[in-house]
Amino acid sequence: MKPIQVGLLGIGTVGSGTFNVLQRNQEEIRRRAGRGIEIAMVADLDTTRAKAVVGDAAKVVGDAREIIANPDIDVVVELIGGYGIAKALVLEAIAAGKHVVTANKALLAVHGTEIFKAAAEKGVMVAYEAAVAGGIPIIKALREGLTANSIQWVAGIINGTTNFILSEMRDKGLDFDVVLKEAQRLGYAEADPTFDIEGVDAAHKATLMSAIAFGIPVQFDKAYVEGITKLSSADIKYAEQLGYRIKLLGITKRTDKGIELRVHPSLIPAKRLIANVEGPMNAVVVNGDAVGTTLYYGKGAGSEPTASAVVADLVDIARMDGSDPAHRVPALAFQSSTLAAAGS
Ligand code: NDP
Ligand code: HSE
Repeated sequence: MKPIQVGLLGIGTVGSGTFNVLQRNQEEIRRRAGRGIEIAMVADLDTTRAKAVVGDAAKVVGDAREIIANPDIDVVVELIGGYGIAKALVLEAIAAGKHVVTANKALLAVHGTEIFKAAAEKGVMVAYEAAVAGGIPIIKALREGLTANSIQWVAGIINGTTNFILSEMRDKGLDFDVVLKEAQRLGYAEADPTFDIEGVDAAHKATLMSAIAFGIPVQFDKAYVEGITKLSSADIKYAEQLGYRIKLLGITKRTDKGIELRVHPSLIPAKRLIANVEGPMNAVVVNGDAVGTTLYYGKGAGSEPTASAVVADLVDIARMDGSDPAHRVPALAFQSSTLAAAGS
């Protein structure tokens, strides 16, 4: 079968990780997908930097629309970020009949309903495993592994930057600003780190998990959002003395009054597993009526952990490309129709 042709928009932290993982594990990935996955084109504002990453392996362009206009490209991977140009490019790619993979939780949490609806109408797939909890396959777990359950609640540490900041402040007594700069250097933080420290990024992710877990529309505007900027080293120290750790949690829960969706710092008893999740690691706890409580743990940010999820989406799409949308593995079809239908 012909290798699937991929166009990558944005080759920064996650884009370069995606390219490198695909190159390194090419043969294994080809066997698992049943066909090759080739990054044929890459677009970035800085074409020199992009060429330094991909060499002669892919065509580098400065204008992302060249990729969308190319009829040979089957899948567009959006790794630019933000709601601006990224939204326009994703909608144009869908309109051009291309499948889309994105790590952009901000875009999906705010404009997901429109994007999933457009994809369902066009019969293409939009996959976003990397958008929540980096390398942890939590989207798949919620949508597929736990599909038999009535989900009761989902709670987790879903922002690596803030967890890294809280850990470093507690363990090393470092200042907030110093650790934030380090998180930026390590590629964990968003282009606008306010999204991390004010809880917005975690709320984007909680919004997406809530939509999948409870089959509701993506409603970021309904989330209660509080970050870690009001916390001091003294708060962290006092919590420790009382036998607690402070963690920024994203929580979504079924209640008698409807679905709760909130992000805020929480005191967690130090003995709990989730209290011991440190650094940029993420952990998500899901409670379903049949399975009980399950826990998912791993790297929630960074180049290759996030690329791991992007490539997994590419493998899913490579397997399903060309299939009848009505008969696709529910993974992607269900995701698109549920969110779109719930929002209409
Ligand atoms: P980066 O800023 O490292 O990479 C984005 C790249 O896109 C940059 O090279 C940027 O160029 C380029 N770019 C900007 N505008 C355009 C355009 N119009 N056309 C082509 N390229 C463009 O971001 P990340 O890789 O960290 O993040 C990418 C996405 O992944 C975001 O949505 C982010 O939220 C998400 N994500 C990131 C994670 C992480 O750990 N970093 C984890 C999970 C998700 P320039 O630098 O010149 O602006
Ligand atoms: N800025 C995000 C974080 C990247 O720190 O978790 C991963 O989504």
